[in-house]
Amino acid sequence: MSIESQNVTDYPNSNTIFMVWNLNESPLLKDTFQQLCALVLNLNNSVFNRFPDSRASCVMGIGYEGWKKLELPTPLPKELVNFEEIRGVKHTAVSTPGDLHFHLRADNKSLIFDMAIEISRLLSPVAESILEINGFKYWDTRSILGFVDGTENPHGEDRDYFAKIGEEDLQYKGGSYLFVQKYLHNMDAWKGLSTEEQEKVIGRSKENDIEMSDAVKPSNSHIALANIEGENGEELKIVRDNMPFGRPSSNEFGTYFIAYSSTFTTTKKMLTNMFVGDPVGNYDRILDFSTAVTGTLFFVPTRNMLDEFSG
Ligand code: HEM
Repeated sequence: MSIESQNVTDYPNSNTIFMVWNLNESPLLKDTFQQLCALVLNLNNSVFNRFPDSRASCVMGIGYEGWKKLELPTPLPKELVNFEEIRGVKHTAVSTPGDLHFHLRADNKSLIFDMAIEISRLLSPVAESILEINGFKYWDTRSILGFVDGTENPHGEDRDYFAKIGEEDLQYKGGSYLFVQKYLHNMDAWKGLSTEEQEKVIGRSKENDIEMSDAVKPSNSHIALANIEGENGEELKIVRDNMPFGRPSSNEFGTYFIAYSSTFTTTKKMLTNMFVGDPVGNYDRILDFSTAVTGTLFFVPTRNMLDEFSG
């Protein structure tokens, strides 16, 4: 039978719900998880059948502690560990708990709202919800900082190559490493910068989304530090689907950073560049306006694995 991944390479959609749950000790846990795996497959099949144009999907990831609590197969996916915080001179990529992660995407919010209801109804007796964020497409895919986000994401076959585990971990081939961070922005400080200064923080022009030439791009700009190469000079990428969120009346503005990758090493290297800096101390200026308040690594099993887990 062919390996079918979950919808990790889908393109960003207009509405997203992110949910993180922690599992409690419960005699019902394993049975509920079986039902949950069946539910995730069912939700995807059903929405694809009923609303094929909505590009709606539900992707479930499992954290290291969650994998152990559920007594899922060993050995574990090679890089599935508890994310260790990355501490720089000024900013820290914190590590926070999370047993299950849900990434629900649709053009019409009603679709994912109902999916979230079904998942919550099933999980509530055995788990606690620790995060729920409603992300939305802001203008032409701009982050809340006003810059277009997602431009340098891989396309075509590269999307699969960079997002899905290959031959290097045969047991988990087709799976993916999912890393998420909830960022809160200091918009008052950000708006205090001129457009030119903001462009130097990101490394691209604001209105037209054009990359600065290497001659003028500051070495501590976001894209200078996030753009990394492998040992042989090849570009290393991840598949990002960041979403803005906010509550204007409470002055809360944020970005939910989310990335799928075939190897967590790539994401970790980007994080180290951003938080520790390259060279050390030359950290990403975006962090002076953005605080990571969560940080969790998950493994996204294939649909075949979900089918097995569902019993
Ligand atoms: C506050 C959170 C973040 C915001 C608002 C943000 C925003 C942006 C923006 C506006 C761009 C330029 C357009 C594009 O190519 O997408 C960008 C590029 C990029 N970001 Fe972020 N980002 C954030 C966090 C991160 C993190 C945590 C990582 C990695 C762990 C990351 C990795 C990248 C990469 C790889 C690129 C493309 C670089 C290139 O090849 O030019 N970003 N981001």
